Formats: sequence, structure tokens, C-alpha cells
Amino acid sequence: MVTYVELNTTAKMPLLGLGTWKSPAGQVTAAVMAAINAGYRHFDCAYVYQNEKEVGEGIQQKIKEGEELFPTDDKGMSIPSNTDILHTWEAMEELVDAGLVKAIGISNFNHEQTERILNKPGLKYKPANNQIECHPYLTQEKLIKYCHSKGIAVTAYSPLGSPDRPWAKPEDPSLLDDPKIKEIAAKHNKTPAQVLLCFHIQRNVIVIPKSVTPQCIVENFKVFDFKLTKEEMATIFSFNRNWRAYTMSM
Ligand SMILES: NC(=O)c1ccc[n+]([C@@H]2O[C@H](COP(=O)([O-])OP(=O)(O)OC[C@H]3O[C@@H](n4cnc5c(N)ncnc54)[C@H](OP(=O)(O)O)[C@@H]3O)[C@@H](O)[C@H]2O)c1
Repeated sequence: MVTYVELNTTAKMPLLGLGTWKSPAGQVTAAVMAAINAGYRHFDCAYVYQNEKEVGEGIQQKIKEGEELFPTDDKGMSIPSNTDILHTWEAMEELVDAGLVKAIGISNFNHEQTERILNKPGLKYKPANNQIECHPYLTQEKLIKYCHSKGIAVTAYSPLGSPDRPWAKPEDPSLLDDPKIKEIAAKHNKTPAQVLLCFHIQRNVIVIPKSVTPQCIVENFKVFDFKLTKEEMATIFSFNRNWRAYTMSM
């Protein structure tokens, strides 16, 4: 089974990466090392997560042990105000020209915002990737279809419904506890988390579950050895309720 997506830069981006938002600085170095041991080569990092130094320490440690790694920080432009979009994009294009980054992308961009970049006069580089929230309660069919039609890869964040998000309420829906997801998982002898991840991989969507638990890190990588049926995929799509775990007031 293919384990990467080819970007419009021709680079190969691993379909499965490790999320690091909320990963405590004291635990994330070990989590990154456990992930590398399990086969991960893609790490989703961000300055705002306040743990990039510790993520880097895990990567450095494994490089010292002789592992060959291709760390990617695919946090591109995450919705600056609409007027800033085009200026920010030009600044990011300069990073490519300076050889500081290999590809640039966007995050939390809707169809209209993405279109503004694509239609920018003198556009030098198209976004390689759009990172958006996506899971069975927010299936994003239209946006993903649109991005793919423009050659923009999509990364799904909060694929497990972000149960550790700080603003979670007890009455919020829980993907990992969804009885219908559990039922599909049982049929494949897999866990609900593995089904939630497979859902993206089968759509050619990159996915970045976060975990600092060694056992879950390993479990989440074991998603390339089974396939959901067409009917199961259709059932999962029917769970869409446009519910967002990651709500942004702006
Ligand atoms: N671009 C953006 O604006 C944006 C926004 C949100 C997220 N992101 C990125 O996407 C990543 C993933 O999203 P997320 O962190 O919101 O949530 P998530 O990956 O949907 O869920 C993470 C939670 O699930 C638990 N978990 C992981 N694997 C599990 C398993 N196999 N079984 C049961 N529980 C499991 C984790 O627990 P433990 O850690 O305790 O193991 C953690 O509590 C982030 O970390 C970040 O890198 C980007």
C-alpha cells in the first residue's frame, strides 16, 4: 500500500504523521523517538505549540543513532487576516527561493481564501498542502475535492476528535466512543482510532494524530494493513454533522 502523497513539488509526503499540539515539553522528546522507532517520518510542528525545541531533540537523538530522517514542519500560513494573505504568501515564496523550505502550504483556508492565492497575479508557487480539521463528524467533502482538483494535497488534523482539547465539554460528541465506529473497528479486528485514521488514508488525505502514549503511537501507525469497504466508507461519510473540535473565534 502507498504510504505517501506526491506533492505538486514532486516531494513525497508521508500519509501518516505525528501531531504535537498539547504534547507536553517533558514528554514529546520521548514520543518523537518512539514514533521514529515505529516508522513515522512526518512530524507536525508549530512555534505556537511551545515544544518545537523538545520535538527537535527527539529527532536529533535519532539522527545520532544513525536513522535517516526527513522531518517536515508543514505548518504553513494559518489564516492571517484576509488583507494579509497575499503579502504573507509572497514572503513564504521567498523562503523557497532562499532554500530555507522545500514546500509551502496553508492551513485552515476555505475555498475562497485558497482561490485568492491561486488567482494572485504573479503567483510563483502554488500551495503544496492545506491542513484542515477533518474526521467523520466534519468530512469536508467539497473542500477536499476542490483542493485535490487544484493539485493541493490535504492534511486532516484532529482526526480522533481532539479529545484532549482544553475546551472539551462532557456533552460534546466523541468519535473514539462512537458505537458505529466501534462496530466497524470490531469487524476488522482493529481499534476505533485505527478506523478513524484509515478513513483519511483511503481518501488520499494525509493524517496527523497526536499522542504521547507509546502504545497509541505504535497503534496509530498500524493502519496500512487493512482497508475499509466501500459501504463502510459511505457509512462513515454519513456521520458528517459539520461539528468542529477546533473552533476559532475569528
Ligand atoms: N493547523 C491547525 O490549526 C491545527 C489545529 C489542531 C490540530 N493540529 C495538528 O493536528 C494534530 C492532531 O490533532 P489534535 O491534537 O487536536 O487531536 P487528535 O489527534 O484528534 O487527538 C489527540 C488525542 O487522542 C488521544 N489518542 C491518540 N491516539 C489514541 C489512540 N490510539 N487511542 C485512544 N486515544 C488516542 C491522545 O492521547 P495521548 O496523547 O494522551 O496519547 C490525545 O488525547 C495536533 O496535535 C496538531 O499537530 C493543527
